[in-house]
Amino acid sequence: PTNQSWGGRFSEGPDARVQRFTASVSFDCRLAPYDIRGSIAHATMLAKVGVLTDDERDRIVAGLQDIDGEIHRGELEWRDDLEDVHMNIEARLTERIGEAGKKLHTGRSRNDQVATDLRLLLREEIDDLRAELARLRAGLIDLAEREADTVMPGFTHMQVAQPVTFGHHMLAWEAMLARDSARLADTRRRVNVLPLGSAALAGTTFPIDRPFVAEQLGFDEVAENSLDAVSDRDFVIEFLADAALVMTHLSRMAEELVLWISPAFGFVELPDRYCTGSSIMPQKKNPDVPEIVRGKTGRVTGHLMAVLTLMKGQPLAYNRDNQEDKEPLFDTLDTLRDCLGLYADMMPHIRVDAPACRRAAARGFATATDLADYLVRRGVAFRDAHEIVGKAVRAAQEGGLDLADLPLDTLRGFSGAIEEDVYQVLTLDGSVAARDHIGGTAPAQVRAASDRARKRLSAD
Ligand code: ARG
Repeated sequence: PTNQSWGGRFSEGPDARVQRFTASVSFDCRLAPYDIRGSIAHATMLAKVGVLTDDERDRIVAGLQDIDGEIHRGELEWRDDLEDVHMNIEARLTERIGEAGKKLHTGRSRNDQVATDLRLLLREEIDDLRAELARLRAGLIDLAEREADTVMPGFTHMQVAQPVTFGHHMLAWEAMLARDSARLADTRRRVNVLPLGSAALAGTTFPIDRPFVAEQLGFDEVAENSLDAVSDRDFVIEFLADAALVMTHLSRMAEELVLWISPAFGFVELPDRYCTGSSIMPQKKNPDVPEIVRGKTGRVTGHLMAVLTLMKGQPLAYNRDNQEDKEPLFDTLDTLRDCLGLYADMMPHIRVDAPACRRAAARGFATATDLADYLVRRGVAFRDAHEIVGKAVRAAQEGGLDLADLPLDTLRGFSGAIEEDVYQVLTLDGSVAARDHIGGTAPAQVRAASDRARKRLSAD
């Protein structure tokens, strides 16, 4: 035959260019260990229901295990003319064990096979990514605790808004990543469903035992509909959406780190080993790790768009278009693993310059809201208090002073409700300590929130 897997009805082999164009083994060889596990479960099931003899099963299983070893040792030569990972492994099996190898594909198609492989791989990768997320989250919680008392400016519109604690900011990052982890766990439930048994699209005429295969491979469920199971890649899309959100969060963190490291802010320093230099400017120490993370976010978001677009025009059931799902998925997995790993390594080593953070919070009238709240507690309506403080800010600004620098007489000129004790609410520490409720920035709350975050993390 012109092709050992499907050549029967063909009068000539594929054009060389067609062969190169349609082959996927250069990238789907990454599925090999999962393909072998799936095949072993399938052969074991075929023997259980009497389609294969026990002897055939044993030879298939031993042959596949040997091939697994060959692949690990880099000895198997992947052949483009065998198209993909599935046919490369099957061909090698028959080469090694003869006739029994030709029976492995009974009651199965590459369509349900590839969907199974992909789900096995993704399930494992999700578990690894969630472990990396957990490592990063643990680092952020430690940092939050360490810097629970460090006052920094909180921003809205990138303008100084109100003082917050550095620890509170770290727990905001951790909260985003906690949701990402929960989303991945939820996606995993829909990934962990067995397609095998759907065969090409309609099921198979053999008396297969799908729950037995599911159990061997650790799938929680058997896919309900064969047409759906071989054709939809929504589980890939869902994962890519989760991944795009993870990257979006890492990118926002990157943006803040880049700003904070800039001497104009000077809030934090990164160890030299996480930075690189300039080829021309000798003084430069650049925050390349966060910058590249921010840059890589674009490709992951792009991969989500790619697979959504790949899916949108496909009629049921399997179409070869789906071969294009793998490179975006694999690249996303590698990108996430790298970025999360680097962040998890790096975050515990961030050095916070607490005095610089405090100086920045002291500029920009960060306690103006506290003064307005003070007036409200003395019976002034909030909207009136807002205007009074606005005028005080303008006067302070014109004099080049901060609110706390204005003498009591000057302050009382804006409102008779102001008394000597006003200076307590105008301090940065007073301001943060006063936001003393669940979700607030007070150091005591940050410590309590760190405890809760750590408990949630260990229950994850
Ligand atoms: N390599 C294909 C894929 O990645 C799987 C094989 C299905 N091919 C086929 N001609 N039915 O989706």
